[in-house]
Amino acid sequence: MKIITSIPEVQTEIRKHRKQGQTIGFVPTMGALHQGHLSLAETCRKENDITVVSIFVNPAQFGPNEDFEKYPRDFQKDESMLKELGVDLIFYPAKDEIYPPGYCTYVEVEKLGQVLCGKSRPTHFSGVATVVLKLFNIIKPDRAYFGRKDAQQAVLVKRMVKELNVDVIIKALPIVRDHDGLALSSRNVYLSPAEREAALHLPQALIQAREQIQAGLKDAAQIKSVIETGLKNIPLLTVDYVEVVTLDRLEAFPVTPGGQLIDNNNTLVAAAVKVGKTRLIDNFILGEI
Ligand code: PAJ
Repeated sequence: MKIITSIPEVQTEIRKHRKQGQTIGFVPTMGALHQGHLSLAETCRKENDITVVSIFVNPAQFGPNEDFEKYPRDFQKDESMLKELGVDLIFYPAKDEIYPPGYCTYVEVEKLGQVLCGKSRPTHFSGVATVVLKLFNIIKPDRAYFGRKDAQQAVLVKRMVKELNVDVIIKALPIVRDHDGLALSSRNVYLSPAEREAALHLPQALIQAREQIQAGLKDAAQIKSVIETGLKNIPLLTVDYVEVVTLDRLEAFPVTPGGQLIDNNNTLVAAAVKVGKTRLIDNFILGEI
């Protein structure tokens, strides 16, 4: 497994594989890897000749009061996990390699970047779109793999790729959960045992909503209220948002006399909470990203 930190070197390496007719699969990450990331790399390996994983904690997607400095970093552990999996190349650039002094070009995906998580993190998705496009331009993958854990991110990247005519196939893979149901996240290491207890109410509230939908509930407001009830009065937990929106446009459903009825093939049910100082997200989707 090669570890490359410079952009020209990684481009030379990729060009070499391309000349041999090999397909390139790409998994962008911020490191502190867990089984969620590894599931993307595993699928990538199955579907491509060469698997490239990037590890870059992207400063542009963190707000001024967020956890950029504190974000967990453990390159050696990440490296050994990826090696064991049979990944071919880790791209591990320094901050200045991606954003040299004076850097000033950013990508904005309007609307999709301003709703849901974008409301409390107004610059986040511009930072994500910018780094993902830069990484796509550097690696030029045939396929790139994202997790549905960050459903809004996957929807937004897909839209950016379509509208900016980037020649890459985006795959969005299922959420990997811990044994207790909590979605795996690099940020889970921040949680104390009591906070983890509280955090479990998030997947549980979503499961309840899903069961109600399976039992026939179709009104977005009522689905939202099932989740809000499940998250009410939980010590240590505050709700950032609960949203039921269309999966493709992340918009509210049209108002009809029967309520705002969800579409069983195009719905995202998403929630974000803060447990102590840690922000956690979770969701389920009806349909395909
Ligand atoms: P990061 O949070 O490291 O996640 C990298 C990829 O792993 C994302 O596509 C994310 O959705 C996926 N992932 C994380 N937890 C998952 C889980 N429990 N199950 C399935 N997939 C999971 O997302 C980012 O980094 C960054 O925004 C990035 C795209 C790298 C741009 O900086």
